[in-house]
Amino acid sequence: MMTDNPVFCALDTQDTAQASQLANTLSGHIGGLKIGMEFFYAAGVAAYQNIADTGLPIFLDLKLHDIPNTVASAVKALCPLEPAILNVHAAGGLDMMRAASNAAKDTATEKDITPPLMIAVTVLTSLEAKDLDQIGVSATPREQVLRLADLAQQAGMGGVVCSAHEVEALRNQCGADFKLIVPGIRPAGHAADDQKRIMTPEAAMKAGADILVIGRAITQADDPAQAASAIASSLGYA
Ligand code: C5P
Repeated sequence: MMTDNPVFCALDTQDTAQASQLANTLSGHIGGLKIGMEFFYAAGVAAYQNIADTGLPIFLDLKLHDIPNTVASAVKALCPLEPAILNVHAAGGLDMMRAASNAAKDTATEKDITPPLMIAVTVLTSLEAKDLDQIGVSATPREQVLRLADLAQQAGMGGVVCSAHEVEALRNQCGADFKLIVPGIRPAGHAADDQKRIMTPEAAMKAGADILVIGRAITQADDPAQAASAIASSLGYA
């Protein structure tokens, strides 16, 4: 179940005890948790289930990318875990995204569960123009993000992961219902760490983000619950 609080905290750890403790501590102060491939591959389904048992919605960030049949089968295998959000790489193409979106709907109907919101990753923020050029993509990162978001929408995906700086252009192109999930968020006064294009939670929401993925600003704080609660209040969700 989705809550109103738009903050999903990224549990970037392989330590299952630490992850469970954080999940329990943060429950009530955040809208959900993001679990990525690091935790899922290291800790497995049982550890995932422990975290999901907190009742918080989970964004299962596995960035699936393979042929349509394989991705559809993977989505089918993951749906019973009932993640609120699941994602695939848009670079897998229209048919792959369509297969993923249909697999989520069909499996949810079959099992009488809520389908995950299916999200596409457009261009990884670690890739610059020269990296795209090296893999044969002559478009700029921004052009490629807009192109892949359009393809994702055609394929029936519910939204994309994007930088806060792309939110406005994507909102204009994709309309009000397309979900924009935004990492690279730092409350005012926080270190940028390795993120290059950051924005505060308030500015990102004002620009039109639907969900904010926030990791270190919460998880590395002296008091993570207090940090999460301060972010929630700054957004009017206290
Ligand atoms: O600690 P921080 O708030 O920078 O963590 C952001 C989270 O969002 C991490 O899990 C990171 O892998 C993820 N992410 C990102 N940029 C993207 C996609 C995902 O920072 N473009």
